[in-house]
Amino acid sequence: MKHLLKMLDLKPEEIIEILNLADQLKYEQKHGIPHKHLQGKTLGMIFEKASTRTRVSFEAGMYQLGGYALFLSSQELQMGRGEPIEDTARVLSRYLDGIMIRTFKQEDVEALAEHGSIPVINGLTDSSHPCQVLADLMTIREYKNKLEGLKLCFIGDGHNMANSLIVGCLKVGMNVSVAVPEGYEPAQFALDFAKDYAGFELVREPLKAAANADVLVTDVWSSMGQEEEAEKRKRDFAGFQINCETIKAANPDVMVLHCLPAHKGEEITHKVFEEHANAIFDESENRLHAQKAVMVKLMG
Ligand code: CP
Ligand code: NVA
Repeated sequence: MKHLLKMLDLKPEEIIEILNLADQLKYEQKHGIPHKHLQGKTLGMIFEKASTRTRVSFEAGMYQLGGYALFLSSQELQMGRGEPIEDTARVLSRYLDGIMIRTFKQEDVEALAEHGSIPVINGLTDSSHPCQVLADLMTIREYKNKLEGLKLCFIGDGHNMANSLIVGCLKVGMNVSVAVPEGYEPAQFALDFAKDYAGFELVREPLKAAANADVLVTDVWSSMGQEEEAEKRKRDFAGFQINCETIKAANPDVMVLHCLPAHKGEEITHKVFEEHANAIFDESENRLHAQKAVMVKLMG
């Protein structure tokens, strides 16, 4: 494993290795056991979109590992004035030990990895969010003590979160059902990957998707970069919500996850969100531990 660009690139055993290391690092952090595996190492963090969790968890995580993290807004880099990604990759490779990038196009993340000589971590693109899905799998395993055989149901937009969940969950032996409105299907690469799995289904009815689910997941109806479509999306996504009915359709001990930020009252009701807040904020916390594991694997 040289980079973390998308879930599609990871072997199932690599996912499990990252989760195991993440559990260990979480234990060490909670018990004050030093784990400075990246002493003297520097991570550059390029952001072309907003972030709370990704930015803060990478920066804090790097500090806890003994390294240093640099926040680089793409607006303030020459990249923002058109310097090619290939040149940016070659320059940053001379200074840094790793790059985390959050941007729009997956191709830019792939280009950074191809032209640079240091590990690249995808901190979200329009097509994938692998760091979030690793944290989600870690959280599911904490709550359910296993992954294999569980059913995860995603209701909402077939965007980055849906794509990465489909691939990541199927790889570790989970079943996945997805309910999206027409025209908001997951990306072709995720559907192509899923077609070989009997445990995958794509449906139009949220309650059908939620039947017997062990984990319910949703994401905002309008992602970063789609703000202008927000009003149309509110109409198109009406009913694609996690609410009391969805909870009733699922297994009695269902857990609810949300990558956050949440638009309560849209993709999830206030009530369901607050009733499942423990798992949701554990999921947020686990971004820190899962990403520390990724950084140790790639940069250690
Ligand atoms: N879930 C997530 O990636 O959050 P941020 O956008 O705050 O980084
Ligand atoms: N789908 C959301 C996820 C945010 C973490 C977005 O891309 O804005």
